[in-house]
Amino acid sequence: MIDRIVDLAADDGDAIEQELENTLRPKDFANYIGQERLKQNLKLAIAAAKKRGEPIDHVLLYGPPGLGKTTMATVIANEMGAQVRVTSGPAIERAGDLASLLTNLQDGDVLFIDEIHRLNRTVEETLYAAMEDFKLDIMLGKGPSARSLRLDLPQFTIIGATTRAGALAGPLRDRFGHIHRLEFYQPAEIQQIIERAADILDVKIKQEAAKELAKRARLTPRIANRLLKRVRDYADVNGDGIIDTTISDKALALLEIDELGLDPADRMLLVAIIDSYDGGPVGVETLAALTAEERSTIEDFIEPYLMQIGLLERTPRGRKVTAKTYTHLGKSQKGTNQSSLL
Ligand code: ADE
Repeated sequence: MIDRIVDLAADDGDAIEQELENTLRPKDFANYIGQERLKQNLKLAIAAAKKRGEPIDHVLLYGPPGLGKTTMATVIANEMGAQVRVTSGPAIERAGDLASLLTNLQDGDVLFIDEIHRLNRTVEETLYAAMEDFKLDIMLGKGPSARSLRLDLPQFTIIGATTRAGALAGPLRDRFGHIHRLEFYQPAEIQQIIERAADILDVKIKQEAAKELAKRARLTPRIANRLLKRVRDYADVNGDGIIDTTISDKALALLEIDELGLDPADRMLLVAIIDSYDGGPVGVETLAALTAEERSTIEDFIEPYLMQIGLLERTPRGRKVTAKTYTHLGKSQKGTNQSSLL
């Protein structure tokens, strides 16, 4: 797959980038911009839990990548005055790994499990009882001499995050007291996030440029912050370090990000539907083959934003572009190419 500036996978491999992302993460609700309804619900749940002197019920956060699930988990823990331990579905390979994580928690701690839909079956089943009554059943030994041991666990809270709530087993989903979807942000909220990040990173950006950048950040904070850093690079090398609209336009043109925030991979997908399938509908597997992207990349990373801004529709018979897609790409509905943005 081509390297994408708008790639939404977390930058696990890049320690510096990851550290920068961490410095930009808001630590409490007061500094968390957007997701107003979610914050309202969580503030209530936290106030109630604190009043009763109990941990908050388990929380499941789902939605497209980059919208702040991990950030929200740390905010919840901070607001509860709790410690947070971070892990992920694929990292917990055996029930024993889970046992070790859970028995090392203290009362009130939060265990954040990213990509919780990727837990394996055995681990998932061990987690059910742990979430329900803070007991852990572990098997000692194998065969006829095997014995089971029941351990008492501290009163903890699981915060699970997933891009696909549908991929979660029903019994696991049922054990979360709070299930919330993170929504795409409003452009004005993204602009505020950019201005806050610029402030923290000591980057000088004109208000108009922050507004322009916000329009092209796919309504996603992780991308907004990344674009800010790349535009800053451009301003430092080709200007006086101050980001205005001239600088941001040039930097984004170099990154091949258009005025709606689409990159070449997005446009390739849309053009494939138009040129090869007359606008659709076309099945996602066919699209994966046509664009050489994995189906999961298309479903989790590319499509959600295209659907959000009305350039793509999901129908029972497959994916379809819209009239807006033709206009945006400068193509006519009959498939003849006018002026192309590509
Ligand atoms: N940085 C990333 N996401 C943010 C948010 N929701 N609010 C403030 N800063 C952020």
